[in-house]
Amino acid sequence: MTIRSRAVQIQQPGGPEQMQLVEVAVGEPGPGEIRIRHKAIGLNFIDVYQRSGVYALPLPLQLGMEASGIVEAVGEGVTHLKVGDRAAYASQPPGAYCEVRVMPAKCVCRLPDGIDFETGAAMMLKGLTVQYLLNKVRPVEGLQPGDHVLFHAAAGGVGLIACQWARALGLQLIGTAGSDAKCELARANGAAHAINYNKEDFVARVKEITGGKGVKVVYDSVGKDTWDKSLDCLRPFGLMASFGNASGPVPPFAPAVLAAKGSLYVTRQTLFTHLATRESTQAMADDLFARVLGGQVKIHIAQRYPLEQVQQAHRDLEARKTTGSTILTL
Ligand SMILES: NC(=O)c1ccc[n+]([C@@H]2O[C@H](COP(=O)([O-])OP(=O)(O)OC[C@H]3O[C@@H](n4cnc5c(N)ncnc54)[C@H](OP(=O)(O)O)[C@@H]3O)[C@@H](O)[C@H]2O)c1
Repeated sequence: MTIRSRAVQIQQPGGPEQMQLVEVAVGEPGPGEIRIRHKAIGLNFIDVYQRSGVYALPLPLQLGMEASGIVEAVGEGVTHLKVGDRAAYASQPPGAYCEVRVMPAKCVCRLPDGIDFETGAAMMLKGLTVQYLLNKVRPVEGLQPGDHVLFHAAAGGVGLIACQWARALGLQLIGTAGSDAKCELARANGAAHAINYNKEDFVARVKEITGGKGVKVVYDSVGKDTWDKSLDCLRPFGLMASFGNASGPVPPFAPAVLAAKGSLYVTRQTLFTHLATRESTQAMADDLFARVLGGQVKIHIAQRYPLEQVQQAHRDLEARKTTGSTILTL
């Protein structure tokens, strides 16, 4: 049986106009794979990097890393999913911008009954990212309740989840965002402080908030525009946790800078190292599901676009017009 699916593909890297809706044939799952029929698809900034060529991948490329749906067929050796299961995932390889696909089962998790499909599609990649950042990417001196952490782009998809999760852990999250309205949103979601980095000097404000000490860790997904100043927000032995480049990749830097600024640590993390095994993926997902089902983390879906309007969705994300999570509807 040949199944057909609409899917968003690029033939070459470039702007949003490179994304075209095409029809593709979908086969049967092989060993370790499933076929999933999507109910909703998550939009992520990594999709922009993959579309534009910041992260180079083989072409033609079907985009998308996050979705929810119903398992339609299960390949040999897959034991954690069965036909008919509600499921959601953040997973490589890209290809989530479609109606139905075959994909590795490893990162696909059963979606608890209390979480609807749209929420599932809006939270897996972003929520699992916050899960590993706040729990595993920690300064050598550790994090204790009451500690300040600096989190850039706090009103975005990852950001609003981080604000709430940090509050649940007792951390004082200092968020940055690009407008006063976004700062208000970050505060409403649990940020202890919010700084409009388009009009305020965030280094001075962080120093003021922390009594001159600085923070133990900066979570920085903005990249080029915030890198240097973020280092200045850290206290000695602090951790610069870089995990994205929304403003452009961080340029090469001299390690001696880290000594001069107080024997700092730097790491550049990606979710997909943390999702390397079925066991680690499920453990992280269980933590995320518990936070969402327990009400400590609410997933804000602030934008919805039909799949055929994916170009507009990318334009709005890149133009910093979105807040919280965005989904593509089918
Ligand atoms: N490494 C990982 O494991 C991992 C996993 C997931 C996400 N990420 C990264 O985390 C970040 C957030 O992802 P997301 O999908 O939730 O996106 P998002 O935060 O909803 O959108 C990106 C935000 O970055 C800010 N930004 C600052 N400078 C920008 C610029 N020059 N162009 C565009 N945006 C700019 C904007 O907020 P303001 O207007 O408030 O500045 C914008 O809304 C991205 O960098 C993403 O790549 C990394």
